[in-house]
Parts: sequence; C-alpha cells; structure tokens
Amino acid sequence: MQVPLLDLKAQYATIKDEITTAIESVMESQYFINGPEVKELEKAVADYSDCAAAIGVSSGTDALLVSLMTLGIGVGDEVITTPYTFFATAGSIWRAGAKPVFVDIEPDTFNIDPSKIAAAVTDKTRAIMPVHLFGQMADMDSIMETAKKHNLFVVEDAAQAIGATYKGRKAGSIGTTGCFSFFPSKNLGGMGDGGMVVTHDAELADRLTQCRNHGSKPKYYHKWVGGNFRLDTLQAAGLIVKLRHLDEWSAGRRANAAKYDELFADFEPVTTPTIRDCNLTIYNQYVIRVPRRDELQAFLKDQGIGTAVYYPLSLHEQECFKELGCKRGDFPESETAAAETLALPVYPELTDEQIQYVAGKVKEFLI
Ligand SMILES: Cc1ncc(COP(=O)(O)O)c(C=O)c1O
Repeated sequence: MQVPLLDLKAQYATIKDEITTAIESVMESQYFINGPEVKELEKAVADYSDCAAAIGVSSGTDALLVSLMTLGIGVGDEVITTPYTFFATAGSIWRAGAKPVFVDIEPDTFNIDPSKIAAAVTDKTRAIMPVHLFGQMADMDSIMETAKKHNLFVVEDAAQAIGATYKGRKAGSIGTTGCFSFFPSKNLGGMGDGGMVVTHDAELADRLTQCRNHGSKPKYYHKWVGGNFRLDTLQAAGLIVKLRHLDEWSAGRRANAAKYDELFADFEPVTTPTIRDCNLTIYNQYVIRVPRRDELQAFLKDQGIGTAVYYPLSLHEQECFKELGCKRGDFPESETAAAETLALPVYPELTDEQIQYVAGKVKEFLI
C-alpha cells in the first residue's frame, strides 16, 4: 500500500470543476494584479477569522515581514519567538533588521512556553511572535498578558493554523496581527505561494495595504518604503473556492487524528499529540514522538509511507543565526522535540485502511 504524507491530487479531484471555473473567470478578465477576487478573498478570510480586515500578501513569510515592517520593528529591536518552528518565523524577524530572541517550548504542545517569556523581555523588546504549531494555538491569554504588561505587539504566526480556535477565538484574531500561509501543503493551500495578514485595527490595515505595494498611497506617492508583497488574483480565485471547503477538510483531519489516537492508545513507545481542552486544532500536521525516529522514518518509507520531520534542527542552532550566540543545550525542549518528532499522513482523504496500515507499521517497527 502507498500512503503519501499528503495527496493534493485527491483533494483537487473533488473540486476540479469549481477551480476551473474560477481560473477561467480570471483568465477572461485578464485582471491579474489586485483583481476583484483579491478583495473578495480578503473579505471572506476576515469574516472567517473574526477580524475587521484582511490583507492578501505574497506568502506567509511576507505576511510576517509586512507585519513587522508596518509596526516599525527593525534595527535595534528584539522580537521574542520560539526556536521550534519553520525557518520563516525567525527569518522574517532577521530580515526586518531585528533580533530574534528565543524562548523554549512546552514539551507537550510544542508551542512557546508562556511562563518563560517574561524573563526574555528587555528594554529592546518590541513584540512577541508566537507560532500556532501544527495547527494548535499557543497559550494566548498568558502571551497577551505579558505583552500588555510590557507594552509589546503580538504578531501571531498562524501560518499552520487558519480556522483553529483558542477558548473559542479564531487564530489570528487575538494579537496585533495574525499571519496566514497559503503554501500548497497548508489546510487552505493555494496553487503556489500566498499569504494573508488579519487585524482588528483599521488604521493598521491601511498601512499594511500600503506596505504590500511599495508603501504607496496615493499611487506613485511614497511616504515610506514597502515592497511588492501582493497576492495574485489567480491565487485568490482558487483560494475562494477552497475556503468554502476548509472546515470540512479540517474536521476530516481531526477525525483521522482521533483514529490514530485510538490505534496508539496504550502503545507506550508512541506519544500522541496533546491538544489542550481550550483548543480546537486543525491538525495541519499530526506529530508523534517516538524513539529511534530516523530509523522508523526509513522503515516507513520502505513500506510506502510518507512522513516528515518538522523540524530536524532548532532555529537557535542554525548556522545563519550563529552571531546570536546561542548554543546546544540552550533550549532543551526544542532540541529534544527536533530529535523525536515525526509527522504522519493525516490529510482528510485518507481511508481507514490507510490509517490502520500506517499505525500498524509504526507499531510493527517499535514493538
Ligand atoms: C510556522 C510557519 N511560519 C511561516 C511560514 C511561511 O509561510 P510561506 O511558506 O507561505 O512563506 C510557514 C510555512 O511554510 C510556517 O509553517
């Protein structure tokens, strides 16, 4: 049996006609930049995320960068974040000219440990950038409390978490801005790169909109320097279609995760994901902890099962950040997670047989 980590063709087969119609409509209009579909998607994502405004941008990475640039965060500033995340989180802080300051994660949720944030605040700290890793939101009440106390912005890296909730509140709707990625493997995946920033602040939304278009307002007049961070109309047209299916797909992922949870219950070598009671996760990834992770991954590959390691090297250990002066041992929970975690296929179109096959092979190896 073959079980890929993700099967986008299976999803495409279910919406092919809708996507074709949407793309043809853009082709007929030839309105490729800032076409009406961009505004339509922005309105739909703002509503979906319980936010006042949404600004389409060129990627999740650029959603983070545009947020930081618009908030005036740059050289001399520090932004607190997690070392256990995709590179773009800290990469965008660095590109804005600021310094990423890492805080270790909670071992069970893999999200930033809020109890350790206050100790990392200095007089240069301007923002906290929590990541809602694998589709589960970070402990936003604690994070917002610390941010309020120290007068900091909060930029939610919700790249993996569109539609997730924390105490009933949507990902992206709690911080100063929320940043989504439409990378094709995300729950709401585009036909290429894309992203979005959401916010409650109308004035900030206006500046974010300027930033994504060279800081221009009105056209050809620039009070400050932004960039070309626009979302393509074609992407927006496809995403409008997909957004209509998002909740159903995320529910499918949760149902598949529940099946794995049950199949691994009482099987001691596998630690299944911990989801806090206050959270509704969207399981962008279903990530287990296991001994002999790399050997298991190789074994599963031989059995036709696709898996992934998110992430093999914590960001504080990345060569490009060596001038930050961090060393091995500084963030032990993150380092241990990097050595033990493995993402299993959880996409909504998986069959029961495939899930049983994957769980069976994991057990066969670890028993
Ligand atoms: C946590 C996190 N942050 C940021 C990004 C960047 O998003 P993009 O790939 O759309 O630039 C991603 C996804 O790739 C991500 O998973």
